[in-house]
Amino acid sequence: MLKGKKILIGITGSIAAYKIPVLIRLLKKEGAEIKVVATPSAFEFVTPLTLSTLSGNPVSVESHDKLTGNWNSHIELGLWADLFLIAPVTANTLAKLRSGVADNYLLTVYLSTRCKVMLAPAMDVDMYLHPATHENIEVLQKHGNLIIAPTSGELASGLCGEGRMEEPEVIVGLIKAFFKQRNQFFGVKVLVTAGPTYEPIDPVRFIGNHSSGLMGFEIAKAFANRGAHVDLVAGPVNLKINHPLVDVHPVTTAAEMFEKVSILFSAANIAVMCAAVADYTPENPSVTKIKKTKDDLNLSLVQTQDILFHIGKVKTENQYLVGFALETDNAFQHALKKLHNKNLDLIVLNTLEDQGAGFRHQTNKVTLIDRNESFTEFKLKIKSEVAADIIDHIAKKLST
Ligand code: CTP
Repeated sequence: MLKGKKILIGITGSIAAYKIPVLIRLLKKEGAEIKVVATPSAFEFVTPLTLSTLSGNPVSVESHDKLTGNWNSHIELGLWADLFLIAPVTANTLAKLRSGVADNYLLTVYLSTRCKVMLAPAMDVDMYLHPATHENIEVLQKHGNLIIAPTSGELASGLCGEGRMEEPEVIVGLIKAFFKQRNQFFGVKVLVTAGPTYEPIDPVRFIGNHSSGLMGFEIAKAFANRGAHVDLVAGPVNLKINHPLVDVHPVTTAAEMFEKVSILFSAANIAVMCAAVADYTPENPSVTKIKKTKDDLNLSLVQTQDILFHIGKVKTENQYLVGFALETDNAFQHALKKLHNKNLDLIVLNTLEDQGAGFRHQTNKVTLIDRNESFTEFKLKIKSEVAADIIDHIAKKLST
């Protein structure tokens, strides 16, 4: 199942390092290629000879070999890996990873790797429960790392509680699931819209809204990470995405977004319309800056095209269409109306009544409502996790 997969294992100085030789054996049995990088203190708990014998590769611990003077390139090692698993990861290393400290070789590899990183923390219960550790883990998740939460049980200190590194068999299962999921949408074309639109009043002013575009960008990234080819039509946002499977199409106005989506939709298997499109646009934007000559100023606005409504009308049976609804009141009823009026397969409801949900937050709290009106509520999560929930849901629906 893991044949040909290149897995880099980073080991830091925790007693749980004794489990890593078993982990390496299990991964090798599955066909994975293994290289190991360690911090010097890891060798207090497990020997380099054991690790190099089991992995079949020399263990890297420093940027150069003192005996031979050979240079170990952290960049090459980082680029070699399909997955970088740091296990066990101590509270100290978590703090350094969080803030980009690069005072050992393992940390320089972490900073230069482009593949997904999994972190399996191991520490004593009070260290794990300390707010500093929790904050570090939260930030590392926001940076896109996958956390393998420690389990609860007897710890090396004799205390009992959370902090035990997950067992090697479970870690192997998670790695297998990761690689399986990575190709879940291989060959699938996805269209995503994100961000606000700006409707010009004159050359220097516009009507816009507070959408940051983050939710749409996370959805685009998550689909691409699972093998889909994504067209991301983005309104004006301060976000960047650098993924070989994502093509970004920047637009400014609702009319431009409509035009771009109309062109791209026919090739899409799945479309997720996340953008906060302006419903009205100035009827006659001024070509010159409007001067302050009158006491009041009336703008005449006209409705923009409803992009989602339009593609809902032309969608075929083989296309899966997802809309968003951001509501402030009677949320469920409004969302149901949009679901049916716009001929959607799924609507993602978020309401400003929920703290931390909607625009300008790093988090969101959504309810997914299917065409048959069955619904699933999720708790408040960071937007990358919300994106994963939405995509898991779509994958489940498409496989049934
Ligand atoms: N949408 C769209 N084009 C528009 C307006 C909205 O494609 N001109 C899409 C949004 O991307 C979202 C869904 O329609 O997926 C719902 O958007 P929302 O603003 O909540 O609903 P509206 O239909 O505009 O209704 P209202 O503003 O009255 O709530």
